Formats: sequence, C-alpha cells, structure tokens
Amino acid sequence: MRSGLLLALVLGCDTAAEFPPTPAMVAFAAPGPARQRQHAAVAANRACTGCHVEEAAEWQGSLHQRANIEPAYLRAFAIEPMPFCRSCHAPEALVDQAPDHEVSALGVGCVTCHLTSGEVLATPGTGSAPHGLLRDAAFSSSRACEGCHQFRFPGRMSADPADFMQTTVMEHEASGSSQSCADCHMPREANGKRSHRFVSSRDPEKLKQALSVSAERSSGAVKLALRPVNVGHSFPTGDLFRRLEVSVEAYGDDHAVVASERRYLTRHFDLTSRGRMLLKDDRLTPAGATLEFDLGPQAAGFPIAYRVAYQRVAHPQGIDEAAAVLEDEVVLAQGDLPAR
Ligand code: HEC
Ligand code: HEC
Ligand code: HEC
Ligand code: HEC
Ligand code: HEC
Repeated sequence: MRSGLLLALVLGCDTAAEFPPTPAMVAFAAPGPARQRQHAAVAANRACTGCHVEEAAEWQGSLHQRANIEPAYLRAFAIEPMPFCRSCHAPEALVDQAPDHEVSALGVGCVTCHLTSGEVLATPGTGSAPHGLLRDAAFSSSRACEGCHQFRFPGRMSADPADFMQTTVMEHEASGSSQSCADCHMPREANGKRSHRFVSSRDPEKLKQALSVSAERSSGAVKLALRPVNVGHSFPTGDLFRRLEVSVEAYGDDHAVVASERRYLTRHFDLTSRGRMLLKDDRLTPAGATLEFDLGPQAAGFPIAYRVAYQRVAHPQGIDEAAAVLEDEVVLAQGDLPAR
C-alpha cells in the first residue's frame, strides 16, 4: 500500500514486509513527473516540513510549491488544458483528474524530489538521520532536475532538440559548465544548507546580474555585445515562451522616433497542423553574441536609445512575435548613445 509505505519511510520503519525492496528500488531513482501519490504524498510531506523547518520555509512560496497554483501557469493551462501539464505542475496528482486543493498546493513537494524509492534521497555524506537515507552523488547532478526540466512536446519522439519543449539539460551539457544545477540554483545559506527557494525569473536583480551589455555606435549603426554572466545554459532557458527583446531607437529633439529596430532572441516557431515547428533558436549561449543593427543614414546625427528586456509571454498571437501579450518583463539594460 503506497500511503503506508511513504509514512513508514518518513518514520524510518522497516517496510520490508509490506513492500520488499528489490535491488532496482534501492538504486538511484531520479525525481520526475507523474508520481501520482496524492494524499499519501501530502501526509509524508507534512512530516518532512515538520522536522526540516528551514528548508520548508524556503520551499513554501517557491515556484516548485506553487507550480500548480501560480496564476501565470493557470492562465496557460486554461488555454491548453492537457492532462500532460499536470504531470509536472502537480506531479503528485492523478494525471487525468483535477486534484483537490491539498494536492494542488503540494506542487513539486519535498517528497517529489527526495522520496523516489525506498529511502530519502540525499547527497554523499556521513551524517545520520531518524529516517533512511539513500546517499547518491547522482542526486547532486542534473539528473535530480532532468525529469521535469527537459521534455518533448506531447506526441514527439526524436532526440532532435526541435522536438523538445524544454532543453535545459542539453544546454547545460553543451555549456561545458563544471557547476551543477544545484551549485547555481541551490546556493548555500549562512547555515551551510542548500537554499530551497529556487528563485529565478521572479528576481529582477538576479536576472540583471545574469547579463552584461555593452553598446557602441558609428553613424546609424549600433553594435550590442550581450554576454551572459555565469549562466550554465541558454539565456533564457526553460519555458518556450521566454525571450529577450532587444531594441534600438534613434530619436529626435521632440523624442519622436526617427528610426528603430526590434529583435527577439528566443526559440522561433511556425504553427503547423503538426504543432509548433522550430524555425530558429537564437537565444544566447554562454559564449554570448554581438548583435548589429543598422538604422541607416537617417539615424546619423540623432541619439540612439537601446534596451534589453527579459520577457515572459502570456499569449503568443500566432507567429507575430511583436504582437504577443506579455505576462511580465524585466529591463536588464538600457542606455543612450549620443548623437554622432
Ligand atoms: C522526525 C523528524 C524528521 C522527519 C519526519 C524527516 N526528517 Fe529528514 N532528517 C532529520 C534529521 C534530524 C536529519 C539529520 C540532520 C539534518 O541533516 O538535518 C535528517 C536528514 C535528512 C537529509 C540528509 C541531510 C544530509 O545529511 O545530507 C535529507 C535529505 C532529509 N532529511 C530529507 C527529509 C525529507 C525529504 C523528509 C520527508 C520525506 C524528511 N527528511 C523527514 C529529521 C527528520
Ligand atoms: C526540486 C527538488 C527539491 C525539492 C522540491 C526539495 N529538495 Fe531538498 N534537496 C534537493 C537537492 C537536489 C538537494 C541536494 C543539493 C546538493 O547538495 O547538490 C537537496 C538537499 C536537501 C537537504 C540536505 C541539507 C541541505 O539543505 O543542504 C535537506 C535536509 C533537504 N533537501 C530537505 C528538503 C525538504 C524538507 C524539502 C521540502 C520542504 C525539500 N528538500 C524540497 C532537491 C529538492
Ligand atoms: C517534479 C518536477 C520537477 C523537478 C524534479 C524539478 N523541478 Fe524545477 N520546476 C518544476 C516546475 C513545474 C517549475 C515551474 C513552476 C511554475 O512556474 O509554474 C519549476 C521551476 C523551477 C525554477 C524557477 C524558474 C523560474 O522561472 O523562476 C528553477 C530555478 C528550478 N525549477 C530549478 C530546478 C532544479 C535546479 C532542479 C533539480 C535540483 C529542479 N528544478 C527539479 C518542476 C520540477
Ligand atoms: C553556472 C550557473 C548555472 C547553472 C550550472 C545552471 N543555471 Fe539555471 N540559471 C542560471 C542563471 C544565472 C539564471 C538566470 C537568472 C537567475 O536565475 O539567477 C538561470 C535561470 C534558470 C531558469 C529560469 C528560466 C530563465 O532562463 O530565466 C531555470 C528553469 C533554470 N535556470 C534551470 C536550470 C537547470 C535545470 C540547470 C541544470 C541542468 C541549471 N539551471 C544550471 C545559472 C545556472
Ligand atoms: C515534463 C514537465 C512539464 C510538463 C509536462 C509541463 N511543464 Fe510547464 N514547466 C515545467 C518546468 C520545469 C517549468 C519551469 C521552467 C521555467 O520557469 O522556464 C515550467 C514552466 C511553465 C510556465 C511558466 C510559468 C511561470 O511561472 O512563468 C508555464 C506557463 C507552463 N510551464 C505551462 C505549462 C502547460 C500549459 C503545460 C501543458 C501544456 C506544461 N507547462 C507542461 C515543466 C513542465
């Protein structure tokens, strides 16, 4: 019985009689979607948060905990209500049924990441605990995240990144970064423990620090050098509706626009009967990129303003990227290049 198993694990009881562990069960089982343990998971999670109060306070209110109640997600789910979505945004719910409030509010719980097999997953160490621990180095690698942070569009099968809705783990591998997802996203708190806040897109200061921008012009031409700072994957990564908007604008004395150009660095899709087809991925890689704009001779002699913004798109309006309705944006850099 699953609920008995989960609770017994938390309390450190011997569950062998009820659910004999096989060698396959005691090997590392990566966290991932569609756990579907419902109220047994809620109860076990309550035990975790009752003892581990610091991690609990950080996790509570995080996007993991709020994955199935965050308004941005709920708006997207209302447009595309596929059971598939629930498998990650409410991994402890039944995939094909709307969960009740408790299971919804559990989101990606302690148990979702730590309780995937017979014992609580942890990284190598010597400390003991009042419950079983399965210490495995794989838990501090991207395998702890891969099950949910890299996946295909429903119905697609190939290994081609174009078939994937999110590709963060392959991007991380391609980056050559020696740091793990947790090294960057679970920094150590003052007490030496890993942060469980997972703050990223909701922290404007962190986003600004993640990109350095320098600009130069000659006549009507502008060069913008964009360099990600310590980002271990494409920027932006994650959800397919994230992008950078880069714009340059020459303006006159009355601030009227003389000439302008705007580009989006994102995954660009065409809409076909077979779903979204990837046309181009020009998101920044860790090496960065230099973008060149030519506003033409009419811009010469006028100041040029530039702006780089990180945007989360709520509704893409067909394939017209400029028409998309935004959920939110954070201006990462902006400035003026004097007339010359
Ligand atoms: C009865 C209290 C209690 C409960 C319930 C409990 N823990 Fe623990 N846990 C501890 C204590 C005490 C330790 C050892 C000291 C420490 O690391 O905080 C520990 C250790 C751990 C560690 C290993 C830390 C290390 O040394 O690397 C992890 C991971 C962990 N617990 C996760 C969980 C999760 C997830 C749950 C719920 C499924 C849970 N614990 C339930 C008390 C508890
Ligand atoms: C999204 C996955 C995820 C969730 C959700 C999660 N953890 Fe963790 N946790 C990890 C990973 C991964 C590590 C190890 C990171 C490393 O050291 O590389 C970890 C480390 C820990 C540790 C070891 C001590 C430390 O903090 O360094 C404890 C204890 C712990 N988690 C408890 C919890 C509890 C309690 C909850 C729920 C309130 C929770 N975790 C939710 C992934 C998660
Ligand atoms: C069970 C699935 C699952 C696992 C495992 C998981 N995540 Fe997540 N993660 C999610 C979901 C779903 C969201 C988005 C929640 C939302 O915004 O609605 C998310 C959000 C995040 C965010 C916030 C992104 C933002 O836009 O601010 C970060 C950072 C993150 N995860 C990192 C990690 C890391 C690092 C690991 C591995 C240690 C991990 N996650 C493991 C499902 C998971
Ligand atoms: C070298 C550090 C580093 C590594 C390694 C890293 N990230 Fe990130 N990640 C960042 C930074 C920096 C950002 C953007 C701002 C922030 O969150 O601080 C970010 C953003 C994100 C976001 C939010 C979407 C976005 O683009 O804003 C998600 C989700 C995410 N990372 C997941 C992961 C996962 C999963 C892994 C491992 C496969 C990983 N990251 C590895 C540094 C890193
Ligand atoms: C295999 C796991 C998985 C599935 C299935 C999945 N998502 Fe997500 N989703 C994630 C992860 C991980 C993130 C966090 C990445 C990021 O923040 O960019 C995320 C982020 C999002 C976000 C951004 C939320 C925010 O707070 O900004 C939206 C919206 C979203 N998903 C909608 C959906 C919808 C709608 C579906 C079903 C059509 C779906 N997701 C299916 C894992 C999944």
